Amino acid sequence: MSPVIFVSGATGNVGGALVHELAAQGRAVRAGSPDPERIEPIFGRAVEAVGFDFTDPATYAAAFEGVERMFLVRPPQIGNVERDMFPAIDAAAAAGVKHFVFLSLIGVEQVKRVPHYRIEQRLTEMGVQTTFLRCSFFMQNLATALRAEIRDRSEIYVPVGRGKTSFIDVRDIAAVAALALTKDGHAGQAYHLTGAEALDYYEVADLLTEVLGRRVVYRNPSALGYVLRRLRAGDPPAFALVTAWLYHNTREGMADIITNDVQRLLGREPVSMRQFIEDYAALWK
Ligand SMILES: NC(=O)c1ccc[n+]([C@@H]2O[C@H](COP(=O)([O-])OP(=O)(O)OC[C@H]3O[C@@H](n4cnc5c(N)ncnc54)[C@H](OP(=O)(O)O)[C@@H]3O)[C@@H](O)[C@H]2O)c1
Repeated sequence: MSPVIFVSGATGNVGGALVHELAAQGRAVRAGSPDPERIEPIFGRAVEAVGFDFTDPATYAAAFEGVERMFLVRPPQIGNVERDMFPAIDAAAAAGVKHFVFLSLIGVEQVKRVPHYRIEQRLTEMGVQTTFLRCSFFMQNLATALRAEIRDRSEIYVPVGRGKTSFIDVRDIAAVAALALTKDGHAGQAYHLTGAEALDYYEVADLLTEVLGRRVVYRNPSALGYVLRRLRAGDPPAFALVTAWLYHNTREGMADIITNDVQRLLGREPVSMRQFIEDYAALWK
């Protein structure tokens, strides 16, 4: 039996898709989340559930035991990665994890203040094997952060003007992660994972309109209007400002890069925005 693969953030977007992918391949997979009770209802008993919290050293031993390869996610709410993630990464390596597949951010090499850059640096300095998955914006943001406004008000309210985004489906990211965790030849690689097309939010709204059969409008608010709305919705100020900054970069044309890494690695086209909307349509009805 091959060694167990550990997936952190297993109840999240990408971790969840990855656990499904590995389980479908019949791999021995251990799914980690701060609340392990949530794991069995999602994945069933074939997947080993473990309580894992980056900030709780008492959870490390059970998570890392017998693991050689792990999927590493930086939970969005963790900003101070030196304090809140590095101890777990060190403990994983000390426990025998040899290869880390890390969910990173496209363009991370140019934005050295983001936490993902500091994690990439740390792993590189440690001398462990790494595969960095530097991803574009997730299509699934439309089904999570933007779900309620699309479902309840038939609108998209993000401040990006006509800036384009090369959205990627997290199922494609998970498929690449599964490859890197189960096949040789991916150590030392950084993959830049995007969809096959870059769309602006007017085009996304048009696709939602076509597939859902009702008019969805892109509002194109100012950055200030966006932040005020997020604060009224209860977002912490720091979170509202960080997302406004990310959307500012999109407005400036920094999110439209398209690569063919997904096609090259998976031997098929990435999931299209239309396909994604068709697959998730029930969520906006
Ligand atoms: N959204 C995008 O467009 C995009 C694009 C590129 C890169 N990224 C990066 O992708 C990462 C987020 O991935 P995602 O969307 O899959 O995450 P997600 O859906 O927000 O899920 C986060 C996961 O981490 C778990 N978690 C929370 N706090 C934890 C802790 N202290 N210790 C251990 N686990 C903890 C969560 O558990 P619970 O479910 O119990 O809370 C959940 O399983 C971020 O680093 C983000 O910057 C995002």
